[in-house]
Amino acid sequence: MTTLLHRSSPLLTASRRHRLARVTRWRHGLRDVPVAKLLLGGQNGMTATEFAAAMEDPLWPSRRVADGPHAGLIALAAREGGLTDAQLLATPYARMARTCIRRTGRYFGADDAAGVVAQARAFLAAGDAVVDVDAEDDAEVGTPSPGDLHSPPGQPVLVVPIAHSDCYQVLDGHHRVAQAAAVGAVTVPVRVRRGEVTTPLQDLLGRMSWLDGGRQLYQPVGSPELAAHWPTVRCCVDRFEAMDALLRRIVGPTLSGSYLDVASCYGWFVAEMGGLGFEAEGMERDPLGATLGRLVYGLDPARIRTGDAVRLLRGTRETWDVVSCFSLLHHFVLGRGSCDEVELVRLLDRATGRVLFLDTGQEHERWFRSSLRGWDPDHIRAFLREHTTFDQILDLGPDRDAVGPYADNYGRHLFACVRTAPAA
Ligand SMILES: C[S@@+](CC[C@H](N)C(=O)[O-])C[C@H]1O[C@@H](n2cnc3c(N)ncnc32)[C@H](O)[C@@H]1O
Repeated sequence: MTTLLHRSSPLLTASRRHRLARVTRWRHGLRDVPVAKLLLGGQNGMTATEFAAAMEDPLWPSRRVADGPHAGLIALAAREGGLTDAQLLATPYARMARTCIRRTGRYFGADDAAGVVAQARAFLAAGDAVVDVDAEDDAEVGTPSPGDLHSPPGQPVLVVPIAHSDCYQVLDGHHRVAQAAAVGAVTVPVRVRRGEVTTPLQDLLGRMSWLDGGRQLYQPVGSPELAAHWPTVRCCVDRFEAMDALLRRIVGPTLSGSYLDVASCYGWFVAEMGGLGFEAEGMERDPLGATLGRLVYGLDPARIRTGDAVRLLRGTRETWDVVSCFSLLHHFVLGRGSCDEVELVRLLDRATGRVLFLDTGQEHERWFRSSLRGWDPDHIRAFLREHTTFDQILDLGPDRDAVGPYADNYGRHLFACVRTAPAA
């Protein structure tokens, strides 16, 4: 007869309680998960977030195992043939191993450079024998612990779901996943731990004051754990293409000069305009803007001035050849700025050498129907003409963001305010 006891029952022996806890921690059975959905996790007993900090690489847990150091080592060996010790020690794999040794004393069996080389060679020699695509469905699940040797054959890859994502973080089995990726496996069988984790990138994005903990991206951010459930609210590419086309029409095929994006958010426009050849900078109230810009677009944080745009613009006589200010003006119309909308646009006018690009909330948007009454493209053009010194105000048409859940919002017109002769 089987007696059912609750996990916390005092009648359970310590060893049964331990076994039960181990079983209930893991979902039953194995699941085939695409290799592309398996992201790097912790190492040697450190969580992924702890290891990311140790590596000074906050994007570590946002990277696919197939793009990580284990897979990189296999690819390098396949390209170069026999690798020297010096070559092995120069790889990201060795850097990862050395970080583990520094923090925990070991990386598997290695505790020095010679051990790292031996470990890398053993991994490469194991080849696809390490790939255990036939792991037993009911294989005993052990929790990886610091200093463990490689999991023995028959152990499934262990993962935990990443919150708000269709990706998983690998808890044990990075080498096996990398080997599977190298031989072109599309999926690997994994055992899934209950619960979920977040990545440092998700945590940072969620802390951007603008999103108020929301799970949305205001500008494009390409990271695997964001792809499925973090919608990009503004595609941005539409506005950028219109800016690029107008600038080439006005300035000619070679673009250069200075550019400032006011309220630059993560810095997507700063990065793209930098890519066109501009000395690009941003102004952003939220200090996380500069942090995220460095992480996701590789922007130098010194290029993002942090603070209230009004205070920053009032405090400078600098001008930039091209300035943009997207979706900020209406907050000033609605009384949420540190000055009124007229002063903001005058400050933007003063800061602009040649072209100011601007869009703003409009009355046709469901959420502004009563609060922005009258703010249609004709009014915006008249407002810009009245309160700025530009020679031309061009309406470049609406954005393409009025789709999906935002079908009744956005569709904001992009205006280009142009000086035919640059300001003296
Ligand atoms: C609606 S988003 C617009 C983002 C970006 N301009 C775009 O269109 O992709 C507003 C952004 O402006 C920033 N912001 C709001 N008020 C600001 C101010 N007074 N000075 C500087 N940045 C501000 C917010 O922190 C947020 O990142």
